[in-house]
Formats: sequence, structure tokens, C-alpha cells
Amino acid sequence: MSGGGGVLRRRINRFWTTVAALAVIYALVRWGIPVASRQITGMPFPLPVPGALVFIYMTLAVVALAILVTFSDEHLDEFVRPVKAFLRGEHGRLPRTVVLVAVPLLVGWQVWGVTAPEVAVPAALRIQHPSSNFPKSFETLKNPLANPSDADVQAFVEQAKANAVAFIPQVAADVKRWREANADKHPLDFIPTAPMKKFVAALKAGAVDPQTGRAALVEKYLFEGRALYAMNCRACHGDSTGGDGPMADGFKLRPINFTDSGTIETIVEGYTFWRVTNGGPGLPTEATPWDSAMPEWKLSLTEGERWKIILAEYDLAQKTPRIPEQH
Ligand code: HEC
Repeated sequence: MSGGGGVLRRRINRFWTTVAALAVIYALVRWGIPVASRQITGMPFPLPVPGALVFIYMTLAVVALAILVTFSDEHLDEFVRPVKAFLRGEHGRLPRTVVLVAVPLLVGWQVWGVTAPEVAVPAALRIQHPSSNFPKSFETLKNPLANPSDADVQAFVEQAKANAVAFIPQVAADVKRWREANADKHPLDFIPTAPMKKFVAALKAGAVDPQTGRAALVEKYLFEGRALYAMNCRACHGDSTGGDGPMADGFKLRPINFTDSGTIETIVEGYTFWRVTNGGPGLPTEATPWDSAMPEWKLSLTEGERWKIILAEYDLAQKTPRIPEQH
């Protein structure tokens, strides 16, 4: 065996076997592992080794080979022999000059790349709440649906008496289907909450006071708002309003968790309305560099629909909006 080793050593120098070993290890880590992973997992794509891990493997390989090379004086002599021969110009002066110029240039380029100052995002807290471009007129805005006017309540009571309560088109089909299947019940039993039950009982007794009518109308708005929320917001903000909808994990800037007390509870309703209306594109420059996926709802929802959703949003999250300060 030692004879064979001797023959091999005379043929290929230790310097070149070391270089070849490094190249083979790199190829294995870089391409071998992904190909093998694909075979093992049976997935239609390879699993690449992360750059940081490639760096660790290569550092370990260099350390191991350095130990091997410096194992004895004999090994080290053999390793540096071709290097010394090259530097003495035994392989020609031109290649030596090229290498002696190229190596410092390459090292210098690397150092420059690591240390040169770059244009970077200034370190600052991201501001996503009322700031520069927030129109002050929104600050005192109140949700008109939270406290319907006497005229609206009156109209609703009249509709209820005539069994002709109008629902938004998005839910009308569901309401119609329910009524067909529940012909024996009062049409408004469709919304089985306590204020609505009280209202239906008062209707049957023929004595509806404005407070009961108003509470029932708000229940109807809440029902419609919940449906609109499910259609438009749930995918991102979730059933629970916890910012955990099925699409939420896809966004680097996660959809807001409304149940967190640091979110919609800390802003006035008018601001929530402005935020829903203008979405990510309407945010001030301080809110960048992150891109918010929040859509600009003024493009696809009417003002009334937006207020209904906001009514339902606070209700679902069991939060109340901030009360505007008195100055
Ligand atoms: C495509 C995903 C997506 C959809 C759909 C979506 N949102 Fe958002 N929403 C976000 C993201 C992401 C944020 C966080 C943005 C940020 O912090 O700038 C956000 C933020 C908000 C905020 C700001 C809360 C705060 O404290 O400032 C409100 C309010 C809001 N969304 C309401 C809604 C409503 C109402 C709907 C449905 C009409 C909706 N969102 C639909 C992704 C979405």
C-alpha cells in the first residue's frame, strides 16, 4: 500500500490534491446535497443548502485540510513546493506577474465590497399611525351607523312592520333562502341576537320604542358588516380578527391583529376609516420602506360599506375606538 501511495504522490502533488479536495467538497455541498435531497424526499424541486451553511462547511473543510497538510514537515514541504516553484518563476514570468497582480487586486476588491459605505435605509421606528398626511378633518369623524338618526330608525321600523327590511345585495340571496326555509318565523329572526329578539317581540306586541328600534338597526348593520368583513378582510385579518387569515403568512408586513390593544383601539374611528379607505398606498412616507399589502378600499367598497365593516371590525375584535381628545 505504501508503495502505491508513493507512486500516487509522485504523480499528483499534495498541493493539487488539496485544491481538488476543496473543489469536490464545494461541489458536493452546493449541488450534490440538493440533488440527493430531491431523490430522498421525492419532491419536484431540490432543497438548496443555505449560503451560511455552505460557508460553515467550507470553513470546516479548510481547517481539516490545513491540519492534514501541516501534519508533518514532510507534508508541508511537499505542499509548498509547487507554490515556491511558481514564485521562483519556474512556470514563466508572465503567469507569475499576472497572479502577483491579480491576487492583491481581488483581495482589495473584496475588502472594498465589505467596507465601502452604502446607501442604506435610516434606522428609525416605522410610523404607521396618524402623522404627516393624515387629514385632520377625519379626526372628529364618527361612524354614522353606530348611532343611526331618528329618521333612519323610523324608516327601519316601518320596513320591519311591512316585512320589507332591505338588505345589502351581498347578503340578500342568503336572507331570501333562509326566509323560504323558515316561512313560519319572523323574517328578522334571521339575526338571532338579543337586541333583535327584543325588537321582534316589541313589533309583535305593536309597541316599538325608538331605543329598541335603534338597537335592532345597529344589529342589522353589524350583520351586514360581518358579511362584508368575511368577503373582503378575512383572508388577511382572519376570522378571529387576529391578523391570522389564510393569506396572512404570505406578507412580510403582517396584516394587523385587531384584538391586540395596540392597534384599532388606540386610534379614533375617523382614522380607522381613513386607513381602510386609503390602505397601504395611502400611508405617509414615514411608513415606508415596508410595503403594506393592505388594499385601497375606496376603489372597491362604498363609504357605507366601509363604515359597516368598521362597525363589525370593532365588534368582532371586542374593542372600542379611541375617543378624540378635547383640546
Ligand atoms: C391583502 C391583505 C389584506 C386585506 C384583504 C385587508 N388588509 Fe387590512 N391590513 C393588511 C396589512 C398587511 C396591514 C398592516 C399594514 C401596516 O401596518 O401598514 C393592514 C392594516 C389594517 C388596518 C390598520 C390598523 C392600524 O392599527 O393601523 C386596518 C384598520 C385594516 N387593515 C382594516 C382592514 C379592513 C377593514 C379590510 C377589509 C375591508 C382589510 N383590512 C383587508 C392587509 C390586508
